[in-house]
Amino acid sequence: MSNQIDRAASGEPPLLEMRNVTTVFGSGEAATVANDDVSLTVAESPPRLLNIVGESGSGKTTAARTLLGLQKPTAGQARWRGKDIYKLGRGEKIAFRREVQAVFQDPYGIYNPYYKINRVFDLTIKKFKLAKGKAEKQELIEEALKAVNLRPPDVLGRYPHQLSGGERQRVMLARAYLLKPKVIVADEAISMLDVAVRAVIMNILIDFKDQLGISTLFITHDLSAAYYLGGDIMVMQRGRVVETGSSAQVMDDPQHPYTKLLLQSIPSPDPDERWSREEVAPEELDKSLQTRTTRRRCLFAERCPYVMPVCWEQRPPMYAAGKGQHAACFLHDAKVMENEAQPATQLPAQPSAVPTAQPTIVLATSPEREATRP
Ligand SMILES: Nc1ncnc2c1ncn2[C@@H]1O[C@H](COP(=O)(O)OP(=O)(O)OP(=O)(O)O)[C@@H](O)[C@H]1O
Ligand code: SF4
Ligand SMILES: [Mg+2]
Repeated sequence: MSNQIDRAASGEPPLLEMRNVTTVFGSGEAATVANDDVSLTVAESPPRLLNIVGESGSGKTTAARTLLGLQKPTAGQARWRGKDIYKLGRGEKIAFRREVQAVFQDPYGIYNPYYKINRVFDLTIKKFKLAKGKAEKQELIEEALKAVNLRPPDVLGRYPHQLSGGERQRVMLARAYLLKPKVIVADEAISMLDVAVRAVIMNILIDFKDQLGISTLFITHDLSAAYYLGGDIMVMQRGRVVETGSSAQVMDDPQHPYTKLLLQSIPSPDPDERWSREEVAPEELDKSLQTRTTRRRCLFAERCPYVMPVCWEQRPPMYAAGKGQHAACFLHDAKVMENEAQPATQLPAQPSAVPTAQPTIVLATSPEREATRP
């Protein structure tokens, strides 16, 4: 969007940010590290789509809740416009809630079955004082419904159970639209919908970005959805960020063995290929592997076909890898690769020797600057 200023470049604090966030549930030996030193940045402009993917228990929802002000981190900071989200004043909190909107997996749980759909809009308009009179209110609601391709007579005056799952999810997006947020945090927002309706929802999010400048953090365990949505991707494994980059690039040429494994688990539309694919074992939800004692090593070592002794002894930092990607894997460390016994198969062909800083997706980078990344 040419008329937008890259505010991150101008030195303003990013819109939304996780800085080295660690979130631990429980205590002692049984503690679960749900997020382990996770960093990400969403700038105000240009808007971007960021997919957060990973198997069940990888910490996606914990990250989303942290950014929504619902889960205070154990260490590190979640920031909105440079301020700690968990220390906002009353007025700031209202502005934050308006700018950062959530869309969850099961909108039915959010609706009160005894009230008509209209109430979702009425309450929002009242709470945020969006309209002066009845006519303005009606106008706003109709505009919001139109933005998500719903006809007002098909929705207004109905009860939640009279709408389909896809319609209910679109009503939630229309509610978000009313507030003209800067970011939508969508946690498994399409996982309960069938394939055709999924595409409708994702197209709305793409339109929101292109036409209204709204960014989306799209949390999903469905890599094909992340591919469809495009934008950037952040792959999580056992609470850690293991790979970042553009969705297309990461999926076409993954640089972390875990991402490779995730991609192998996508069902192929070709039945012949489907049967010939390698069977991929799902991540075992063994909490003992997600405790503090295992944090000083690669958490993928048990399942990694390229595992080396160093992988059991040190936590791999993020390395520049592939085309604009970053991967937390020693296979990208030239020095390590010189010292270790060579693994059976190497990945990638040209390892980089320079570890980068913490896993960070800067959504404000312009395509030109993106192209000059290491
Ligand atoms: N409130 C909580 N109390 C204790 N443990 C929790 C809590 N919330 C999350 N966890 C644990 O933290 C880890 C990460 O959970 P999280 O819900 O963030 O994963 P996820 O990637 O969203 O998984 P899914 O794909 O199944 O939704 C899991 O091991 C989970 O059991
Ligand atoms: S650091 Fe080692 S165990 Fe971890 S993904 Fe890379 S090669 Fe595999
Ligand atoms: Mg989740």
